[in-house]
Amino acid sequence: MSDHEHKAKEYQAKGVVPFWPEHFLKELGVGLVAVAVLFVFSLFVHPILGHVADPADWAYQPAPDWYFYWVQNFFDVGGHYWSILHLVKFDWVLMFGAPILGVSALYMVPFIDRYPERRLLKRPLMLGMLMFGMLFFGYFTTNGVYAHNRLIIREPYSIFATSCATCHSIKGLGGNNRGVMKTPTGQWTYPPSLSHVGSILSPAQIRSQLENPQDGMPQLNLPPAAIKDLVPFLAHLK
Ligand code: HEC
Repeated sequence: MSDHEHKAKEYQAKGVVPFWPEHFLKELGVGLVAVAVLFVFSLFVHPILGHVADPADWAYQPAPDWYFYWVQNFFDVGGHYWSILHLVKFDWVLMFGAPILGVSALYMVPFIDRYPERRLLKRPLMLGMLMFGMLFFGYFTTNGVYAHNRLIIREPYSIFATSCATCHSIKGLGGNNRGVMKTPTGQWTYPPSLSHVGSILSPAQIRSQLENPQDGMPQLNLPPAAIKDLVPFLAHLK
């Protein structure tokens, strides 16, 4: 009996599949089928393309494709709670910490999950992580879709896009949150995100900020009609 046959017998007795060549060929087969499906798909199903990129369009709102809404929405919601905790200065902890934690958790899986069971129901930890992951992506994707839709279908949003988005962001759209500015009193500040301005300022305070901007925001001389549109729009962002 050759060495390979000997090994194969041994594996068979243990009830496991050897990597070479059995497992490898199976993986290769599945991989080729997946590529073939993608190829056929790309021949017959044409993606919807946006308009051609225009570098002169300064009011353009970059938004991720829907399958990345969860990232944007996670940091939008996370950033909100971060600022409630007065940790805005440490937002890099959130930006770096969350991905590092998430990826490390994936690397830890083979070390934590050492049970030989393959049936899902006998692997409560893995099933739990899977469910958590699906709920996590599902929640933040749906939340992100709603956030974008709520925003874009509103008329005042176009005023925001042309007059405010160079400095402020709403739900991750627009904004220059890192663009530090100097206030008239000499302090350094940056335009805050307006994603949740309705739960921070009252409608009267928002109106006052637009009529007599404070803290380094320039006087924009907005027409009264624009202010009338913007105040309830901003007050609804909670
Ligand atoms: C040139 C940059 C710039 C533009 C353009 C701008 N803002 Fe501001 N805005 C600021 C800065 C800076 C602050 C104050 C930051 C601080 O409080 O330290 C601010 C503050 C605000 C606040 C108060 C937010 C809070 O949480 O206290 C509101 C509301 C606001 N802006 C709305 C608007 C709206 C609406 C527009 C468009 C019509 C606009 N801003 C355009 C820079 C800008």
